[in-house]
Amino acid sequence: MSAAAPAKRLYIKTYGCQMNVYDSERMADVLAPLGYALTERPDDADLVVLNTCHIREKATEKVYSELGQLKRLKAARGADGGAMTIAVAGCVAQAEGEEIMRRQPAVDLVVGPQAYHRLPELIARSHRARGERLAADFAPQAKFDALSSERRPSGVTAFLTVQEGCDKFCTFCVVPYTRGAEWSRPAEAIEAEACALADQGVREVTLLGQNVNAYAGEGGLAALIRRLARIEGLERIRYTTSHPRDMDEALIVAHAEVPQLMPYLHLPVQAGSDRVLKAMNRAHTAESYLALIGKIRAARPDIAISGDFIVGFPGEREADFEATLDMVREVGYAQAFSFKYSRRPGTPAAALPGQVAEDVKEARLHRLQALLDEQQRAFNAAQTGRTLPVLFEKPGRRPGQLVGRSPYLQAVHAAAPERLIGEIVPVRIEGAAGHSLAGVLEAGPESA
Ligand code: SAH
Ligand code: SF4
Ligand code: F3S
Repeated sequence: MSAAAPAKRLYIKTYGCQMNVYDSERMADVLAPLGYALTERPDDADLVVLNTCHIREKATEKVYSELGQLKRLKAARGADGGAMTIAVAGCVAQAEGEEIMRRQPAVDLVVGPQAYHRLPELIARSHRARGERLAADFAPQAKFDALSSERRPSGVTAFLTVQEGCDKFCTFCVVPYTRGAEWSRPAEAIEAEACALADQGVREVTLLGQNVNAYAGEGGLAALIRRLARIEGLERIRYTTSHPRDMDEALIVAHAEVPQLMPYLHLPVQAGSDRVLKAMNRAHTAESYLALIGKIRAARPDIAISGDFIVGFPGEREADFEATLDMVREVGYAQAFSFKYSRRPGTPAAALPGQVAEDVKEARLHRLQALLDEQQRAFNAAQTGRTLPVLFEKPGRRPGQLVGRSPYLQAVHAAAPERLIGEIVPVRIEGAAGHSLAGVLEAGPESA
């Protein structure tokens, strides 16, 4: 790009999971050669991208209300003689692209999660005519081939997609329809991207996949982790999200043997009742999940377990819900996400009898979250007095303070000089406040 090219402003708003965060970064990468630079506000943006999530009804509705606001901004820009292009990307674009175009005429183009490498071409076409604006094909291979391994990481941690899509078809979930079938990137391409990240100061990567532990490259996810652990400068490796069904022996062993692999595992169980699990098509039982947790803890006793839960799945009775609470008590979660079941059009569970009343879902969610919150606080409080290696990421809330992450993914605040950003430093934990920890540098801020 010639130096004379005028900078165009790009505003990206990201909803949903970490993979959307990764995709948003990659969209910015794809658009940079066209002269687009990121801006913090949509008001004066030349191009607005909403990277959307379809997982629950609320997430989807947010997109339409955001589009209503953008329509006004676009009109104001037009009245001033400017122009704003509005693009909808991500899982809502994939699932209801036609409907978006119909419901909101201000939208110029729609692009699915496997087609955003074609944004430059789609933008050019949409400027000529408001037509041919739907790219919703499923070809992750073509996308990754088109993306460069060079990235512009904004910090010392980064996401790295290694696997996409899902073949599990849990009956409540839209992901198999929005992301397509399970597909794994070749290990060489992942390694090249990880090396480039490490060269630019990234110390921690989180490997992403809708079913990351179904990674199908040779030797599976465990072999990939061991390969990446050899990269100089890459000190920490995490991965998310895993399915209990794909948690193989080799991956469990990696937790015991690979020092770079952090002792944290997000392993969603969704529910504690076998009746409900079966109706969800989860392919695990409460007992098999607990046995798995037992094996993982035997390999890595201090591992922090995280999970996802759905309350009020169709047909869930009080006793089923109690089984979920029992499961939580049995496992002891360091952290968790929990949701009220949301009926998604086109998924099998949407048509099941026994849909649970909203107030019942609400009450169950409240009880579950109280228990999970108590467990998280207990897990955090138990760190008091310990010294943990903390990877400092950025300045903290107060002057002179940095914030980083413990191996267990807890946020840790400590007084520390800025030059320690990107360093892993021993921090003595003095206490837990809310969902984060506070500590002091083991050696003291002056001598560190
Ligand atoms: N692939 C991941 C999760 C994808 S979605 C996995 O299998 O774990 C993230 C979480 O959203 C799910 O784990 C589930 O707890 C929740 N979720 C998915 N569909 C939902 C629905 N229809 N209603 C409520 N929560 C849902
Ligand atoms: Fe959705 Fe189930 Fe696939 Fe996870 S495993 S993405 S919950 S269908
Ligand atoms: Fe949402 Fe799509 Fe991720 S539906 S959770 S953005 S895979």
